Amino acid sequence: MTISTMRDEPAVCSAASDGTGIPEQMLFGRCEVMQAVRAKLERVAQTNVPVLIIGESGTGKEVIARYIHSRSLWLSGPFVPINCPGIPGALLESELFGYEKGAFTGASVAKMGLVESASDGTLFLDGIGELEFSLQSKFLQFLQDGQFARIGGQESLHAHVRIICSASRPLETEIESGHFRRDLFYRINVVTVYLPPLRERRLDVSELIDFFLHRFSKEFDRSPRPIRASTYDLLAANDWPGNIRQLENVIKRYVILDSEDAILADICGRAPVALNASTGESEQVSLKQVTRCATRELERKVILDTLSTNHWNRKRTAQALRISYRALLYKMKQGGLLSKRPDHVASPENGR
Ligand SMILES: Nc1ncnc2c1ncn2[C@@H]1O[C@H](COP(=O)(O)OP(=O)(O)O)[C@@H](O)[C@H]1O
Ligand SMILES: [Mg+2]
Repeated sequence: MTISTMRDEPAVCSAASDGTGIPEQMLFGRCEVMQAVRAKLERVAQTNVPVLIIGESGTGKEVIARYIHSRSLWLSGPFVPINCPGIPGALLESELFGYEKGAFTGASVAKMGLVESASDGTLFLDGIGELEFSLQSKFLQFLQDGQFARIGGQESLHAHVRIICSASRPLETEIESGHFRRDLFYRINVVTVYLPPLRERRLDVSELIDFFLHRFSKEFDRSPRPIRASTYDLLAANDWPGNIRQLENVIKRYVILDSEDAILADICGRAPVALNASTGESEQVSLKQVTRCATRELERKVILDTLSTNHWNRKRTAQALRISYRALLYKMKQGGLLSKRPDHVASPENGR
């Protein structure tokens, strides 16, 4: 693949990081791990190397891809995202590479593919791990020399694009199981960026809440009441399996409904609260329920923090918390923490 060397320098230091309207400060937050991501991106954005972004759903992979584009030599070109898992195999090939008239039944006119429309810009392949094997070969070929053909076409076409890919988990497992081509992996994996899940960016949660409150109050022209401290604590202690997207949606619902039920329903796993048809008011959650939920979440957070401080040595953690070893194991099981030890912690027990 070649790149144009005639492009303008990208505009840097804008208030918002890119087309998403998220200020750069918000994008990376305060956690060390995200500062390292930022430093890495600064080094790679203006090169032509492919970037692979790994992170759970909702951690901001597309936002980061757009950020890279906005800092890259392809800034004046288009940013073209494609959601690989969302499009069935055969259709994905025609979406990516386009087709000529008469290539298949129903192809009454020729159509340009996304690779072509991303020319001189960035092509973002979201969920690349789900790309079908046969399509992986065609894509690899394109990555090698920038050449491709539309389906049913004889002509060899060429596109200059910056490639960014994303996956929700490391691709090594797919390679081992024979579902992902190793040679393609080496091509797209020149630089890998890992986005941490929100539960590992707890320092940033309160600023994200404030950011979304402000954003949605403006967008929906609402003035929601301040969130109560106890609910705020729940938000801070929550694990956010859906990451920033889940937090964003919770706050959006809160702003629209002006009801903390929206938050509690999500966090405490209750079914969303229906509006009472006669009064138009939402069902109230009992204080007892809120307290129980808050206590459980906070306890879980304290245990998690103490485990982390003690390198997941459970005996020392129990001592630090002044509870019995058995009680700790019980609480860890209850809080789903038994299987949560991070991979980089070699042994949880050091003998125990
Ligand atoms: N740092 C951030 N600050 C504010 N909003 C964010 C941030 N990162 C992601 N978002 C928002 O979270 C949602 C999910 O982001 P997205 O990039 O689509 O995640 P992914 O591609 O990893 O699933 C989007 O609505 C996005 O605007
Ligand atoms: Mg996405």
